Amino acid sequence: MTDLKSFNVQSLGDAEFEYFRNVVYRESGIRLTELKKALVQARLIKRIRQLKLSGFEEYCEYVQQHYHDELENLINCITTNKTDFFRENRHFEFMKEHLIPLWCEKKKRRIRIWSAGCSTGEEPYSIAITMREYFPNIDSADVKILATDIDTDVLEKGKKGVYSLEAIADVPLPMAKKYFLRGSGDNKGFFKIKDSVKNLIYFRRLNLLDETYPMKGKFDLIFCRNVIIYFDKETQRKLFDRMFDFLSDDGFLFLGHSETLTGLTSRFALVANSIYRKVV
Ligand SMILES: C[S@@+](CC[C@H](N)C(=O)[O-])C[C@H]1O[C@@H](n2cnc3c(N)ncnc32)[C@H](O)[C@@H]1O
Repeated sequence: MTDLKSFNVQSLGDAEFEYFRNVVYRESGIRLTELKKALVQARLIKRIRQLKLSGFEEYCEYVQQHYHDELENLINCITTNKTDFFRENRHFEFMKEHLIPLWCEKKKRRIRIWSAGCSTGEEPYSIAITMREYFPNIDSADVKILATDIDTDVLEKGKKGVYSLEAIADVPLPMAKKYFLRGSGDNKGFFKIKDSVKNLIYFRRLNLLDETYPMKGKFDLIFCRNVIIYFDKETQRKLFDRMFDFLSDDGFLFLGHSETLTGLTSRFALVANSIYRKVV
């Protein structure tokens, strides 16, 4: 009580905002325009409270003094993690109707999928459920889904694989019954993804801005949805140059429905709305 009372955060000043936005841009590629000032202010207050600091000026000094230790927390506060199960469902329909049949036709038994910017896990779990449902004899195949994000808090949530009833509302009921365990006691109202789905996924921290990525081998399918909207054109261009190298020649790239490669790169060809293939 006393903590909150004595905690009188002044509003975020221009100089501090400038500092935070420069750090965030440099370290994550996330571009914060002037319009995002109120958002940054709201997001940082929680962290300032946690650290029991007096306000933004003191937090700014704190970041400068503990730069490498605090960076992760700062970025975790700033990222926007909105996601849903089977969000932009057309991509999962495309997997079911085109990709999986194509892989079956080619007798592919080794499939690698990357969810880049996976947030709290709903996207990779939707991919894994789709693979479990429609890829024949998946247990005897070699299927792996890499789920990466810069934000370590969302990765922890994804790894746990526990969601509220509200969060799983977009999972078709037969799939929810098949792939989630209903919590009881303290976990009442929560649903845990089953190991048969979870075991297909590897959650790892990866900053898409990094000069090199640690993955070996190429992916048959890359989901990079609703991530590049936070980046400027130059960052986007570099990212897709890198993704080009990580996509197999017959692989597919999915972007968010409002995102496009038009005017950015001609190394990918549009197959359907927000679905791309490599030009080889
Ligand atoms: C809006 S969410 C999208 C989640 C999911 N792909 C979807 O479409 O539902 C964007 C995610 O991108 C992540 N992100 C932002 N900048 C990133 C970076 N430089 N490297 C990796 N992930 C990043 C954020 O942490 C966030 O979880």
